[in-house]
Order: sequence, then C-alpha cells, then structure tokens
Amino acid sequence: MIRVVVGADDAIATGANLVAEVVAARPDATLGFATGATPAPLYAELARRRQAGLVDFSRAHAVALDEYLGLAPDHADSYAHQLHREVTGPLGIAREHCDFLRGDAPDPDEECVRYERVLARGVDLQVLGIGRNGHIAFNEPGTDVASRTRVVQLAPSTRQANRGLLSTLADTPEAALSQGVGTILEARRILLIARGAAKAEALERALRGPVDPACPASALQLHDDVTVIADEEAAAGLAQAGAIRST
Ligand code: PGA
Repeated sequence: MIRVVVGADDAIATGANLVAEVVAARPDATLGFATGATPAPLYAELARRRQAGLVDFSRAHAVALDEYLGLAPDHADSYAHQLHREVTGPLGIAREHCDFLRGDAPDPDEECVRYERVLARGVDLQVLGIGRNGHIAFNEPGTDVASRTRVVQLAPSTRQANRGLLSTLADTPEAALSQGVGTILEARRILLIARGAAKAEALERALRGPVDPACPASALQLHDDVTVIADEEAAAGLAQAGAIRST
C-alpha cells in the first residue's frame, strides 16, 4: 500500500512522525538514510525533536543507500561523510552504529556482497528520494526490479544533477555502489520524499503508471508499506492526493 501525504510542513511532520514511531517501537531500529537536498528538512525536523528530547536515536543503527565509487568515507563529497555530517551526527546515532558502503573498498563487488549481508539483518525504515528520471538510489531506468547491491554506472543526467555537491562535473564519479531495487523493497517500511516541480513527472509515473523498469521507483507499488511525502509542486501530477492505493 502507498500512502501519499501532500503539503510542506504537514508532509515533513508526517515523515518525522513515522521515523519517530519506528524508533519508539524498536529503539535499536536500523534506519536507511538517503543523502541529497530533498530529505534535509526531514532530518532538520528530526534533529529538532531530538534536541527537544522527543525522540532518542542513541540505540538506533544507520545504513546507507549508495556511495560514489572510489571515494573514501572521509572524502568531503562521499555520501558517508555527508550522512555523518547532516544526519547521524545531528540525530546522535553513534559512529559504531553506522555501517555505510565503502566507496574505496579494494574489491567493490565484494563490498556489495558484504553490504547485502548487513542489510539482510533487517532495515526497519528506508528513507528514499526520487530522481528526475525515476531512479531510486542509483538504480537508473532499465534496472531490474530484482536487482541487488552492486556497482552501477551513473546516467549522464544524474551526474549533472549531483554535480552541485561536487566541485565540477569532471570530479563527479561515473560509477557508484548502490542498493538494488530488490534490496530496497526488502526494507520493512519505506518513506519516499519528493520536493519541487522537477520531480512531478517522475512521481506521477512512479505512483500512477505501470510497474516498469523504465521508472525504477514504480517498483515501490510492489511494497506493502510505503509512505510518500511530497510538496504541492512534486504532487502536481497526482490526481488524487491523499489517496490510498492498494496494489
Ligand atoms: P535530490 O536527489 O534530493 O538531490 O533531488 C534525489 C535523488 O536523485 O534520489
């Protein structure tokens, strides 16, 4: 089932409530965090609630969705570095409870196998963004719904969109390690966040179109516990905002 909540502050509050609910029910929950600009307001709200003593992440565990190939965790542009700085640090998740993909692993394929074992212990909630081309994590259009964590080539549009985080396009890696679509679908609950008009078409295809590898996010229709939080701009193409859709 996919639940869609549209709005600015309301949607962020809904997402924060969901994360808080998961951690209240299971204080040592494993949370999967996405990087990027989209989830930043959610993480800020969670950090605010943590400061106010409303939620406690001290026993929670954190995993990542993806990582640039070749970047060490202490590289300023690595997702591991961003997650520590923007998410797990502000939320108070202990470093020893964070297990992120190693972009600089000597054998990246082996690192992906290791990460599948980490994730197989169970992800209670996975936070996701959606790309303009419908990607989730670095699963670009054409990715099989059964795909697992692996090394992937990045679409030119994805490198271009992400380049703001890195100094130049030439510095943006051409490959990444990414959870697969099938891996993501094994999380117990999924929270997808979409903000801005640039995501409207992808979100509409993901939620209203057929399940089709051409839009990897459409595979979320196969999951039984997905919450989508979207602002009005990103939700513009959804005819029935707030609708509950069974698949
Ligand atoms: P964004 O990325 O938050 O930078 O828009 C989302 C995504 O591509 O998954």
